[in-house]
Amino acid sequence: MPRPRVLSGIQPTGESFHLGNYLGALRQWIALQETHDAFYFIADLHALTIEHDPKLLSARTRASVAQLLAVGLDPDRATLFVQSHLPEHAELCWVMQCLTGFGEASRMVQFKDKSAKQGSDRVSVGLFSYPSLQAADILLYRPQYVPVGEDQRQHLELTRDLAQRFNSRFGTVFTPPEAYILKDAAKIYDLQEPGAKMSKSASSPAGIVELLDDPKASAKKIRSAVTDTGREIVYDPENKPGVSNLLVIYSALAGRTVGELEADYQGKGYGDLKKDLGEVLIEWVTPIREQVRSYLDDPAELDKILSRGAERAREVAAGTLATVYDHVGLLAPAR
Ligand code: TYM
Repeated sequence: MPRPRVLSGIQPTGESFHLGNYLGALRQWIALQETHDAFYFIADLHALTIEHDPKLLSARTRASVAQLLAVGLDPDRATLFVQSHLPEHAELCWVMQCLTGFGEASRMVQFKDKSAKQGSDRVSVGLFSYPSLQAADILLYRPQYVPVGEDQRQHLELTRDLAQRFNSRFGTVFTPPEAYILKDAAKIYDLQEPGAKMSKSASSPAGIVELLDDPKASAKKIRSAVTDTGREIVYDPENKPGVSNLLVIYSALAGRTVGELEADYQGKGYGDLKKDLGEVLIEWVTPIREQVRSYLDDPAELDKILSRGAERAREVAAGTLATVYDHVGLLAPAR
């Protein structure tokens, strides 16, 4: 029996991945590589949809690969590649754009938010068609599951709709993939604003814990996290979003259930919880940072991993693209 396939991607937009990325998505990526046929990639084409510095982008792409390896991605188990190394992504994107409705793309929350903030003349057509590219990323590999955080749910719904639309217009090629979203850490919140998700673009520096930050500075951010009124340490996201967020992070990093933590901290104060979580964080992140540094010391090895990954990815992607072109009626070039 072949293993079920999973696929996911991450953007190289920041200096570093953050705890939300790790707990919401990357942790699942690592677990699933053991049991699934896993394809993971750096979404560098998506990073072009907002203004960016070209010099930083290539360095961040390499740093992203180093971070994935450091948190446990094994390139012998999972196929790890860079999106722009496979032209098939941009090619299938065009077909997906031709299937996506203008109104449908206008209603995507991420586009609506950014165009409301920046004005429609400043946001790019690339940002508008971002979800069509994401659908192409996914459907090229025909995965069963896509492990992501809660914020990607709408993009996954669109991908499923496009898969079904393609099948009904042109004949069955795709099985609509399912979002694989964990309940317990699907959304990690900003430490300073526990009503908002921790995010590269929206969080203030004090609200976001980055994997490559100085661990002591990260522990300090945890100690300064906004907590709630009252004193009791209980998981209650509605009334105690700050404390609940810390409990979720603690539970994931320490491998203990939220219930166990609640019992341990009965009668103790928020200060105790934050201090201990700061220490857990330092212990967890220090070796990861060191590993990232040592991977970055050998860029040739990283590039080798990526070219192997691209080769394996192309075996799948090229086949799907050829089938798609054939189904939509594009004339195959003479050989
Ligand atoms: P990106 O780069 O913003 O985030 C990568 C992954 O991290 C998750 N995530 C979070 N999870 C929990 N709490 C948070 N605060 C938090 N912040 C981020 C995201 O849900 C995501 O799983 N559009 C995608 C990249 C992409 C992609 C794809 C993903 C491009 N093509 C194909 C899956 C399949 C994105 O911008 O993720």
